[in-house]
Amino acid sequence: MRRRLLKWLICPICNGALELFASKCSRLSINEVDYDLLRAIARITDSDEVETEIITGALACAACRVYYPIYNAVPRMLTYTTEVARVHQRENALWIQEQLPGFTLPHCAAPPGEEEVLRNFSIEWTEFDWSGRSYWSTTPARAVDWMRYSLGTSKHPLQGKLALEVGIGIGAMADGVSRVENCEIVGVDLGYGVDRAQKFFGENHRLHIVQASVFALPFRRTTFDVVYSHGVIHHTYSTRTAFSHLTGLTKENGMLYVWVYSHEEETTSGVRRILMQIERAVRPSLSRLPRSLQIIFLAPVLPAYMLHQSLVRRRKMGPEAAVKYGWTEALIAARDRLTPPFAHRHTYEEVAEWFRSESYGNLEFLRDEPLPGGFPDDLVNLRVSVGIRGFSQPKLSREHSIGSTFHSTDQIPRPVLNS
Ligand SMILES: C[S@@+](CC[C@H](N)C(=O)[O-])C[C@H]1O[C@@H](n2cnc3c(N)ncnc32)[C@H](O)[C@@H]1O
Ligand SMILES: [Zn+2]
Repeated sequence: MRRRLLKWLICPICNGALELFASKCSRLSINEVDYDLLRAIARITDSDEVETEIITGALACAACRVYYPIYNAVPRMLTYTTEVARVHQRENALWIQEQLPGFTLPHCAAPPGEEEVLRNFSIEWTEFDWSGRSYWSTTPARAVDWMRYSLGTSKHPLQGKLALEVGIGIGAMADGVSRVENCEIVGVDLGYGVDRAQKFFGENHRLHIVQASVFALPFRRTTFDVVYSHGVIHHTYSTRTAFSHLTGLTKENGMLYVWVYSHEEETTSGVRRILMQIERAVRPSLSRLPRSLQIIFLAPVLPAYMLHQSLVRRRKMGPEAAVKYGWTEALIAARDRLTPPFAHRHTYEEVAEWFRSESYGNLEFLRDEPLPGGFPDDLVNLRVSVGIRGFSQPKLSREHSIGSTFHSTDQIPRPVLNS
């Protein structure tokens, strides 16, 4: 964790200030371009804020008497006790006793089904052996182009801005976008994909990696120029509630972008309709199985994924755009479809209403935006899903938003510490 991240962090339980305790730090060596960029974005004068990385430590909330571990350079901000928090506690027992007497690990109840979501996506991403060759069905460079197109960076440049990506998975998009767009990104994910992200992209000074849930994001309100979440909130118990947790974090006129599965995507062909029915039927059971049994059930379908990629996608998109599927690529694709406990579907109209009711205006729909020249129409399926950008309206209009079900922050479910 870079020291300057503390500027933006708060306790995800009570929203109070956090105090940083470091037991192991390192000094980063940063080139001049990054140095100037990062100091300007965070408006800092102290070089320590840019150059110091905390490898092991804790973030403590005096009001809750709770501490959040920093382990493997990643702040662990979940509001319930996790495996990694217990490991940190065991390995640092003496230090915690000395530095944080009377403090405990957070022990709220997890949001419905979230521990299963964490388990399944952690398996998905820790199994994915990142080689820099592929990301989903395409190359990492093309996936970053897709993300920039989705964020509309040609109209809304990210240069010199601070963005939050919720649900970074292995972190490849956040890494690529921060490099190409010259911006700083805080990347959050629920699962242990964050450790892979730290391993592969931890040396990118423009990227902060945080383990946290969309339902208890540990950030000050109105901190970010841009908040985005791609393919994430439909995998929670309630897409709508998750959406409401993203809304207070943008600055005034800041941009919020979300991409979620659509009903339309389900019905693009007869074959797809049948496949979706099968998926619906098997997902609840598969998501509950232990990892080894999941592999036994998934293994027979992997050749079908490989064949489809080779015979259909590579022919349609060309070999430079569609990578060849090996076992790893086929496995992550199959896992992503068949093991998440939740995968809700929505319509453009429904999600647009969520934006409006939370006082986001000037909505931009991905389905209406032509793909830029030279960008092959290989990602058309992604456009069949719902991708919407909205811009935060001035505070005053929030009070007057019509038909809002979530406009008061008091109505958003918050974590509560168990006694
Ligand atoms: C399908 S992956 C998408 C990853 C990446 N955004 C992309 O589009 O390639 C969904 C990700 O959402 C994360 N996720 C699921 N529930 C979450 C939650 N409550 N808070 C934060 N992240 C969550 C999962 O851990 C997983 O990494
Ligand atoms: Zn607190």
